[in-house]
Amino acid sequence: MRFFTSALAWLQHTRRARDGRGGEQCDPLAMPLVWLNKFDALSPYDLFEGCQVVGASGSGKTSSAAHILRALFRANFGGIVLCAKPGEFEHVYRIAQETGAERRVVRFAPEEAWRYNPFAFELQRATRGAGLITNIVALILQAMECGGRGKNTGGDTYWQDALTELLTAAVHLVCVSTGDCQLSDVLQVIQTAPQSREDVTPESTWSRTSACFAMLLAAEKKVTTEAEYGDLAVTEQYFFRTFPELASKTRSIVVSSVSAMLSPMMRSPMRELFCTTTNIDPTACERGAIVVVDLPVKDFGSVGTFAQTLWKMTFQKAMEQRDIAKSPVPTFLWADESQYFVSSYDLQFLATARSSRVCTVYLTQNIPSYYEALGRDHQGQHKVDALLGNLGTKLWLANGDPTTNEHAAKMIAQTWQMRQGANQGYSSNMSQQGGSLTTDTTTSVNYSDNQGVSLSEQLAFQILPQEFTTLRTGGPRNNLLVDGIIFKPGRVWNATGTNFMRVTFKQQ
Ligand SMILES: Nc1ncnc2c1ncn2[C@@H]1O[C@H](COP(=O)(O)OP(=O)(O)OP(=O)(O)O)[C@@H](O)[C@H]1O
Ligand SMILES: [Mg+2]
Repeated sequence: MRFFTSALAWLQHTRRARDGRGGEQCDPLAMPLVWLNKFDALSPYDLFEGCQVVGASGSGKTSSAAHILRALFRANFGGIVLCAKPGEFEHVYRIAQETGAERRVVRFAPEEAWRYNPFAFELQRATRGAGLITNIVALILQAMECGGRGKNTGGDTYWQDALTELLTAAVHLVCVSTGDCQLSDVLQVIQTAPQSREDVTPESTWSRTSACFAMLLAAEKKVTTEAEYGDLAVTEQYFFRTFPELASKTRSIVVSSVSAMLSPMMRSPMRELFCTTTNIDPTACERGAIVVVDLPVKDFGSVGTFAQTLWKMTFQKAMEQRDIAKSPVPTFLWADESQYFVSSYDLQFLATARSSRVCTVYLTQNIPSYYEALGRDHQGQHKVDALLGNLGTKLWLANGDPTTNEHAAKMIAQTWQMRQGANQGYSSNMSQQGGSLTTDTTTSVNYSDNQGVSLSEQLAFQILPQEFTTLRTGGPRNNLLVDGIIFKPGRVWNATGTNFMRVTFKQQ
């Protein structure tokens, strides 16, 4: 299948523009991609470092971020779009039509003929590290992490370890015995694994009827090398000893949590979409394809999240492992209502996304929605901090959530500011107050003279948390204008000379 190489043309065009200007030292990926005003723009490099848009429901997230999406489409970047709400495909397709990118849109949905088997893709990928059982297991675990949110399989290390061990043994057994990795086979192995020590005796009913046992026999005939024998011995040990000897409660919880997530993937339409052949995969994005995974969470529930995570993670892995010298075209990962899709793997991915040339743009309502997704405990909070830290550019829109607003105010930080005030008599003092996020003075130094004029230097928030509650949210009432505050660590904006900047987007 052939997609477009015009993003390459974009790169070449930008290079020509640079050369036309007398060979200035100017990387095309550092050139403006999204203009924020007359003086400031975001470049592809900015977006490789990630972009997080945060705004309350109806604050204008989708319509203001559409400016970024338009720019990505115009630059002919390929990528994937994850869908949380019904109607997102139509929204993306409209933008693609406006920017002449509609022929590059691939709608991955039950109504279309596109098919993608992510497990076979992982297994067959030619790059280093691909095909390893651990990669496939990690893929299933990440998809379960997102799809299984709110269920009782959370981050508890004990269950997580038991789950990882079972999946590793099952995936290995299926790969060795069938030479392929079908999710249905993995599920069958797990559901027919021995339940007791009696099961693993030669005359047991289990040994006559179990698919797991049949696969163990088949696997023995397939292995040839010493290393393969060694690996199979570990898997056999697991099924013959470790698994039957687990506490029955552990066994049943682990099996039922896997079954609950994988069984819906065996049903139509997910079975046809993900468990058959492959005629589209994430590498198409390198050639300009815009894959919209139109399985909205609101329509398909947790299996929709599971399925989209399969796309997301295999896309991330494929982009990380591509050879930039051979495939230099930037790509993007777009997720509106990103709280449904963020996972622990994002932290790893975002840390190196710049070298993979992937623009990650996430839109969410508030920071607590990320806590909800990644965990409200200490570990979850660290993950959220790391995630937000790795999404370089922040665009904060109107919000009424104090946690988010305080977080934003803190991130933009305080500066020493001179304040003038009336004074009587002479005084000179320095005082320190406890201060809080809602009072902007924490330390002050006062100098005054006898004339009754005083100048006070105060360490104050540049943007107070409550200012985020007054930003315009678009719609006819606001003349279709959406206000936001943009911030990127280490960036001083040309228009303001400060580290943050008010921006306004016109809804279209
Ligand atoms: N082109 C437009 N013309 C008029 N009003 C618009 C337009 N685009 C968006 N709006 C309105 O502006 C407001 C903000 O829109 P938008 O959908 O971008 O917000 P959002 O933060 O993404 O909301 P949600 O949380 O519901 O996804 C909404 O009330 C919406 O109806
Ligand atoms: Mg929206």
